[in-house]
Amino acid sequence: MNKILFASSEAVPYIKTGGLADVVGSLPKYFDPKTYDVRIILPRYACMDRKFLEKLCPVAEITVELGWRKQRAGILKAKADGIQYYFVDNAFYFAGEKPYGEIYQDVEKFAFFSKAVLEAIRAIDFVPDILHCNDWQTGLIPVFLEKAYRSQALYQKIRTVFSIHNIRFQGRWKLHEVKDVLGLSEDVFTAEGIESYGESNYLKGGIVYADAVTTVSRSYAMEIMTPEGGEGLDGVLRRYSYKLFGIVNGLDYTVYNPKKDRLISAPFDAKNAPAKKAANKKALQKKMGLPVRADVFLIGMVSRMSEQKGFDLVAYMLDAFLSKEDVQIAVLGTGEERYESMFRHYAETYPDRLAADISYSEAAAHRIYAGADAFLMPSLFEPCGLSQLIALRYGTVPIVRETGGLKDTVEPYNKYTKEGTGFSFANYNAEEMTEVIRMAMDLYKTQKPAWEGLMRRGMQRDFSWAGSVEEYERLYEDLLQTMK
Ligand code: GLC
Repeated sequence: MNKILFASSEAVPYIKTGGLADVVGSLPKYFDPKTYDVRIILPRYACMDRKFLEKLCPVAEITVELGWRKQRAGILKAKADGIQYYFVDNAFYFAGEKPYGEIYQDVEKFAFFSKAVLEAIRAIDFVPDILHCNDWQTGLIPVFLEKAYRSQALYQKIRTVFSIHNIRFQGRWKLHEVKDVLGLSEDVFTAEGIESYGESNYLKGGIVYADAVTTVSRSYAMEIMTPEGGEGLDGVLRRYSYKLFGIVNGLDYTVYNPKKDRLISAPFDAKNAPAKKAANKKALQKKMGLPVRADVFLIGMVSRMSEQKGFDLVAYMLDAFLSKEDVQIAVLGTGEERYESMFRHYAETYPDRLAADISYSEAAAHRIYAGADAFLMPSLFEPCGLSQLIALRYGTVPIVRETGGLKDTVEPYNKYTKEGTGFSFANYNAEEMTEVIRMAMDLYKTQKPAWEGLMRRGMQRDFSWAGSVEEYERLYEDLLQTMK
């Protein structure tokens, strides 16, 4: 039996701020249970839903030494979807209304969590073969392992994998302060270690000290090795390219299954999609207060409203586009104030064309995935992206920018061969995007069979975890065979 422990700052169903939670909460379920025992460790945040907090059972008490401080932590456990979860409990660090706060607090919080994970291993009697860390919040785990735990027998055989879900967030802070908190030797704080541009950098720690580094699509793995996509760490990644792998994320097909989806009004599959989607479209239009019309091209957007997701392009073209085109746009999400108010503004100006629900709920999201004709995702950069995978599964044709995982998962429509699953554009340019949206709209209006072909092919592609899990299993096995 291979023992795997995922360490993460978030995982569905317990706590979620982004796609990281979806991945950590679903990937472990898809390993072969005959040969893999996969468990997950998270912080126990006070802001987690009451119904989850009430079900956590205490298993151990540990002491975590951080620099000159000695602190206690409780280890709790619970099961979700058949997966064993552990939680690190400390009232000082994990209080607060949100999992993340100010960066200067977070660097100490996640240093504490990282060290607590290594201490917990001893206390819960689950010494993993592979410790799989995710994003900067767990970047110090490989560092502590090499620098403070490796010499102890219990820790000698553990291999580490570090996964980058978004290289923009690195956990950077003043070198001397982090030095004081971590209490590790001087060499850790040099250019060979976690120092980067004069600061300490947790993500770099993960990259340098882990046995293997992965990111969530093949294209993104290439992009982060370039100055344009590396957010300052491209040089480090090029240096460690021999241990960098791109493995595309999968989708939890039990959650996103249009045939069994209880959140939508008319469940469907690839065969009856055109008819059933019409019913879902009607329901969506009603719910969002758009005129109920079968013939109008309805574009959906479900997204965190941040620069990363390409909202500047949308801001640039929206007014002209809505004033000219007979189109409907349904938007769901929250985020930066400037984008939220932009959508509110246009929803007032063009009430028949744009509806914006500035909030988030699974039900509202599923309604858009099921009811829209096309799904717009013009990201500036996108490590993997899950929404386009959901859209594909729900027969909603994605219109994306060719970056990272979007490039790897959406095949542009070829009007000659009638192949492809969506539409895409290359440059981060609003005119190019508008052009491609018009092409899609034109096909929708004038060539129904071709459009339905696009829908069907998208629905039939396999974006389940099956293939990617095999890649992770192969990576783990390679690491275990090359034990030092
Ligand atoms: C981050 C990325 C997103 C990716 C997700 C899960 O949220 O921005 O592209 O799909 O992590 O890996």
